[in-house]
Amino acid sequence: MTDFPKTLRLMERGRDFLGSDYAILCGAMSWVSERNLVSAISNAGGFGVIACGAMTPELLDAEITATKAMTDKPFGVNLITMHPQLFDLIAVCEKHAVGHVVLAGGIPPKGSVEAIKGGKNPAKVIVFAPTLALAKKLLRSGGDALVIEGMEAGGHIGPVSTSVLAQEFLPELSEDHLVFVAGGIGRGQAIAGYLEMGAVGVQLGTRFACAKESIAHENFKKAFFRANARDAVASVQVDARLPVIPVRALKNKGTEEFTAKQRDVAGTLDREEIEMAEAQLQIEHYWAGALRRAVIDGDVENGSLMAGQSVGMLKEEEPVADIMQKLMAQSEEALTRR
Ligand SMILES: Cc1cc2nc3c(=O)[nH]c(=O)nc-3n(C[C@H](O)[C@H](O)[C@H](O)COP(=O)(O)O)c2cc1C
Repeated sequence: MTDFPKTLRLMERGRDFLGSDYAILCGAMSWVSERNLVSAISNAGGFGVIACGAMTPELLDAEITATKAMTDKPFGVNLITMHPQLFDLIAVCEKHAVGHVVLAGGIPPKGSVEAIKGGKNPAKVIVFAPTLALAKKLLRSGGDALVIEGMEAGGHIGPVSTSVLAQEFLPELSEDHLVFVAGGIGRGQAIAGYLEMGAVGVQLGTRFACAKESIAHENFKKAFFRANARDAVASVQVDARLPVIPVRALKNKGTEEFTAKQRDVAGTLDREEIEMAEAQLQIEHYWAGALRRAVIDGDVENGSLMAGQSVGMLKEEEPVADIMQKLMAQSEEALTRR
């Protein structure tokens, strides 16, 4: 802990908030962020987050129990706001006295933040916001910390880069609020930069996805190690009426299948067979299924290889603890050289 004094000082508010040694979150990754990776991250001094994704309350219950058996360090749970059983999932988190709930995938529905903060075991709420105005609103109405995530990231993305979001949000918010920066971070030098700009910590996904402790299939990991930054491309929207949130993933046959899937869903919308909300849900289910195919089954041709642009910096499988120490050392070295 005394090895990285400059970095730790800049991370102090983030560490206090998370209760971890380092203010480095491993962002929730569906199918990847389960008990093994989450406990490894927290045991290595970072902050692991379980990806609830489309899990039922029973499955989430079992996952939290299993994670607790593998670490006594704090970890969080990421819930997708459009999950039809969101409030039951919040109750499961409360039952386990989970300290931090991350609400992802859209504006938190009415009452959800209150439910997380109001029960017998109130948790802290971490929110995402694509614009400064929404960030201020969410922080006013109960959000305890904010993650800003740029379009370099893997998975669902917004249209703006991390460096621009950081310049927009940090000067306005960092004095009074806790802001973590995500998207495109592969090395500690970048962490040092965002900390100096006022972030209290960072969130990484891609860098940890293929760690030794990650259960991702060997084929999935090999595809990551082979890939360059330019291979991690954003999906394209094919129909103006069907606003799908772009997803960044390694280019493969699945990328083309997604285009076909969108045409299918747009067709059912045309024929008025389904409503817009149902159409969007179908798209989200498609992604969840495709990601599972790649991460769990190792089908790297047809599945979805969600990855951020930092994928080009990954060359081999490393234990989480080594990655964490490397990131901290790189940040410290950068700050020392200033
Ligand atoms: C394979 C993969 C799956 C992801 N799944 C989710 C998810 O289920 N929920 C979520 O909020 N973010 C998800 N993300 C985003 C990460 O939590 C994290 O914010 C992002 O990876 C950070 O950017 P980076 O990839 O450039 O490090 C995913 C990212 C990847 C690479």
